Amino acid sequence: MSELVELDHVGKVLRMRMNRPDKKNALTVDMYSRMADALGRARDDGEVRAVVILGTEGAFTSGNDVADFLQNPPEAEDSPVFRFLDAIATFPKPLLAGVTGVAVGIGTTMLLHCDLAYAASDARFRLPFVNLGLVPEAASTLLLPRMLGHVRAAELLFLGEVFSAEKACELGLVNAVIDAHGLEEHVMNQARRVAEQPPAAIRTAKRLMKRVNAEAIAETMRIEGECFGSALKSPEAAEALQAFLQKREPDFSRFG
Ligand code: COA
Repeated sequence: MSELVELDHVGKVLRMRMNRPDKKNALTVDMYSRMADALGRARDDGEVRAVVILGTEGAFTSGNDVADFLQNPPEAEDSPVFRFLDAIATFPKPLLAGVTGVAVGIGTTMLLHCDLAYAASDARFRLPFVNLGLVPEAASTLLLPRMLGHVRAAELLFLGEVFSAEKACELGLVNAVIDAHGLEEHVMNQARRVAEQPPAAIRTAKRLMKRVNAEAIAETMRIEGECFGSALKSPEAAEALQAFLQKREPDFSRFG
């Protein structure tokens, strides 16, 4: 079986690919763990100057693997999903993303922690946390209102509707929309250019850009994590997640 998270080095760029195309790259506990570990190593590896996160054709990631999440709910602060979120939020070197196809849930919110992000023209974004009876994560409850203003953030989070690459670009979630065939080459090229810059100057620039929000992000993630843990055990989430697994529409009419 091929690796569910593929890692390879291209010059001084670490390429990290979510690679579970039959499940639209839905992320399991093992995949989060592997990505968190890879970022941890890349932090300290002088040979890595930038990291690129990619998916596969037609899928960046469909977010948390629903079945895996029900079996292995994130309960402790050091659970793999929280380790991954902490790793991307505090990664000291340039982090880039190339989004192809579906980018659901954490597939969209992880972009809030990337420095450069590009979307293929076929990219489709969605934040369905509320739809699933859950709560937004990755400090998106802090960062989205700050970036977009409250009303635009609330529209994305309350309705959880799909939005296009062009819309993501207009909202400032990605830098540009690139033809799907050229996306990976473009992102790798941007990463190589960033990796050729003076590394200490880049790290300092990043640290200074992130400084003001750093504590608030950590605190928000902690509170969101607590709310997420309780929401995951709620009847609303049970109905939504079972409906997904049973391939039917959820019915929230009985909840007060
Ligand atoms: N968790 C578990 N399995 C998932 C998944 C997820 N997040 N996303 C997709 N899959 C599975 C599907 O169940 C399906 O499995 P099957 O072939 O065994 O039936 C397979 O991946 C392909 O997905 P499918 O729904 O057939 O593809 P699609 O192109 O019609 O739709 C999505 C793709 C991503 C729009 C749709 O799968 C979806 O909405 N997934 C749920 C995303 C989600 O809610 N994520 C947030 C979790 S917090």
